[in-house]
Amino acid sequence: MAQLGTDIKEAKIRLQKGEVVAIPTETVYGLAANALDEKAVSSVFSIKNRPSFDPLIVHLANHSSLENFCQDIPKDFYHLYDVFCPGPLTFILPKKNVVPDLVTAGSPTVGIRFPRHPLTQQLLESLDFPLAAPSANPFGYVSPTNARHVEQQLGERINYILDGGDCEVGLESTIIDLSAGEPVILRLGGLSLEEIQAVTGKRYAVQTSSSNPKAPGMLSSHYAPGKKVVFDNMEENFRIFKGRRLGSITFQKNVSGIPLANQWVLSPNGDLKEAARNLFKCLRETDETDVEVILAERFPEEGLGRAINDRLMRAAAK
Ligand code: TXA
Ligand code: MG
Repeated sequence: MAQLGTDIKEAKIRLQKGEVVAIPTETVYGLAANALDEKAVSSVFSIKNRPSFDPLIVHLANHSSLENFCQDIPKDFYHLYDVFCPGPLTFILPKKNVVPDLVTAGSPTVGIRFPRHPLTQQLLESLDFPLAAPSANPFGYVSPTNARHVEQQLGERINYILDGGDCEVGLESTIIDLSAGEPVILRLGGLSLEEIQAVTGKRYAVQTSSSNPKAPGMLSSHYAPGKKVVFDNMEENFRIFKGRRLGSITFQKNVSGIPLANQWVLSPNGDLKEAARNLFKCLRETDETDVEVILAERFPEEGLGRAINDRLMRAAAK
């Protein structure tokens, strides 16, 4: 069973030996291994049951060693880096040969991220290799936002979880593809489109559909808890599923006709950041109840609301 702790040295020694260690980030917990060690990286895929076509993000403390791993880095990168990094933004860039094809699922590009959780920052600074890390959940399931979540699902498959408490953002990083021509957003996440656009003054195309071969991990049925989730059209779904044990996930308000114990209100004060932080924890909690169907409402299509809707839609597609 995995040990939980805050010992960076312990995590470092294990990673140096080629072990897989769970790490906290500001978005969600990651399942990390030496990105340059193919054997360690292949353990990450097998521990998660992740298909090999789905590439991993490579994590660095800062951009000082970036040119060892990437080439043709555009100006937009430095512009965004200066404002948002470390933070919940992943850059897709052309890779160099040292990055194993296993990490990028054969793609000539690599996803690079600079996480801002202090424990993981210190860990990355102490290592002389980057960390490849997908979210620390079994493939297709909701991402973990605290160390207990990791322990519950993967505790028997790994030895150490670096415990950094609850994740501050609670949604995976936003992914921006800077590898060819105009930048494209491949995943809506913990950094809002509005914030990115305000900095660069550009409007970006958003291509997050599951059929997009550029983001092979964006399957339509991702981020799903064990329960049936139905998204949007609350009133209609309430009628359709009447008679079943219902639960609800809403932004600010309760729903009449559903027992209060089965209602998850993500932010009574209407703060989308707070709602984002609570989303995955609440999806997990639904699994511990006898609710049969979760009615999830559509959140405002702005700020982090877009990413919340994206995750709820995928949870409902299962
Ligand atoms: O916030 C996050 O990004 C978290 C933390 C742990 O850093 N990581 C995370 O990793 O969410 P994961 O593996 O669950 O999701 C990574 C996504 C996948 O959908 C994958 O397809 C995409 O990133 N990705 C990675 N490398 C890519 C590449 N070279 N081109 C296109 N998409 C890529
Ligand atoms: Mg994931």
